[in-house]
Amino acid sequence: MSEGPVDATTTDAWKALTELRAGFEPDLRSWFADDPGRASRFTFEAADLHVDLSKDLITDDLLASLLALAEQVGLEARRDAMLAGEHINVTEDRAVLHTALRLPADASLEVDGTDVVPAVHETLAKMYAFADRVRSGEWKGVTGERIHTVVNIGIGGSDLGPVMAYEALEPFRHPEIECRFISNIDPTDAGQKLKGLDPATTLFVVSSKTFSTLETLTNARLARTWLLDALAENGHSEVDSADAVKKHFVAVSTALDKVADFGIDPENAFGFWDWVGGRYSVDSAIGTSLAIAIGPEGFAEFLGGFHAIDEHFAKTPLAQNVPALMGLLNVWYVNFLDAQTHAVLPYSQLLHRFPAYLQQLTMESNGKSVRWDGTAVTTDTGEVFWGEPGTNGQHAFYQLIHQGTRVIPADFIAFANPAYPLADASDGQSVDVHELFLANFFAQTQALAFGKTAEQVRAEGTAENIVNARVFSGNRPTTSIMAPSLTPGVLGQLIALYEHITFTQGVVWGIDSFDQWGVELGKQLAVQISPAVSGDADTAKQQDTSTQSLIAYYREKRK
Ligand code: F6P
Repeated sequence: MSEGPVDATTTDAWKALTELRAGFEPDLRSWFADDPGRASRFTFEAADLHVDLSKDLITDDLLASLLALAEQVGLEARRDAMLAGEHINVTEDRAVLHTALRLPADASLEVDGTDVVPAVHETLAKMYAFADRVRSGEWKGVTGERIHTVVNIGIGGSDLGPVMAYEALEPFRHPEIECRFISNIDPTDAGQKLKGLDPATTLFVVSSKTFSTLETLTNARLARTWLLDALAENGHSEVDSADAVKKHFVAVSTALDKVADFGIDPENAFGFWDWVGGRYSVDSAIGTSLAIAIGPEGFAEFLGGFHAIDEHFAKTPLAQNVPALMGLLNVWYVNFLDAQTHAVLPYSQLLHRFPAYLQQLTMESNGKSVRWDGTAVTTDTGEVFWGEPGTNGQHAFYQLIHQGTRVIPADFIAFANPAYPLADASDGQSVDVHELFLANFFAQTQALAFGKTAEQVRAEGTAENIVNARVFSGNRPTTSIMAPSLTPGVLGQLIALYEHITFTQGVVWGIDSFDQWGVELGKQLAVQISPAVSGDADTAKQQDTSTQSLIAYYREKRK
């Protein structure tokens, strides 16, 4: 795909959307009152996901124009190019094939002349065999003991996916194996996560696509030193260091040569490919810690969930294609209703890291100012994604969503069945707490959609001077996503849903959603500034005056 992107703002559909925007007066109250079929018409199914867009600021005309926009920017052709392994990651000249990671073993997909599916399944088989050995206790540390703690060392996509999924799938974990995750180069992270661990029963998984990330390599070296020191302190000074590293370190990377340089046995390294972006890699061997925690069957089910949504995205007409519809709606919100942020609000404590995971997926993908041909974007791009699990968010920031001055589209996610079905039986009556929880989920989207009028507030006997403060405008857009329960498969579906939403937005904006050049400058400067922080006067002098004075403050206060 060498040709440049279609400029969405020049299309007829964009013109139609601009006209619709000019006369747009959302009124969810009357839209629902006048149209009994609204909820069912705007509710869609994708695998196990039940997605209700009816409380979004959408009308039939609007939807028709958004679908026309998708057609005019060539969404389906670009999707098909991605799925076929074309090099749509233009600035890195790479295929974008996270979807190949979850293809069934009997599928085939040629990329640059090679069928990638056999290699994907070979790696999975190796990872599964390893996970089984750790889970069964067959894998022994250097003192002959089984592993009880797996520490994943990685950052960005080599951390956020595994930790999010490990938390989300807590009910599916092996009871005798705990995973911990070290990501930050703040030494507090390694310090805290290593605290209390027995080196003899700890296994490190060093996860890094490039195996050159400063944070990860620094933390991996810290962990290696800790392992050898702690073994000696615990009376195992007889162990051979190389043997200890071999039995307590494995790696996941696309750069297997660098893994060997670190002292990790290439036998215990799990590879993946440059056509998997870091933020799209939890379903590759980067998920090794997760595969140990939930087991190969759970991991296979997780991949199956991704694949079900990939199939839906690839084959469902756009008018019923949930990721495409959600991505197009986000374009409507960002480019026509000036939304600057997008909230993701899981009514599931287990998904407490899901918004953080989505931040990398969405913002590293679509936070761009140039298009894939290097020309400037013609409209705003990536919004800020954020969120916290309900109901905690309700007692913190929902005030702004309900009564603030900005449009904040919000995705509400909930499950029919709780992982912990607890009842509050203290008053002699048994109350299903999950139902209390879900009542909040339903109530919030209702309050945001329909609000509360001044008349309703007055009818409650409210003093006139505070009526306005108690009015809720309504017409605040929400999408409700429900599923039967949070299983590995459903988690895979949710992740794939957001991957394809992100892709859809990127196509409309004409950007390369798969590079991340914006993270490079800060990394380079950190390396350049580092000597100044350690006291090198010449390097200090080369910095701007603000940075010089901040470093001077640091050096004065550091004990
Ligand atoms: O700095 C951003 C980034 O490149 C992410 O895209 C990536 O997920 C992360 O760093 C970690 O990279 P690696 O897996 O190569 O260590």
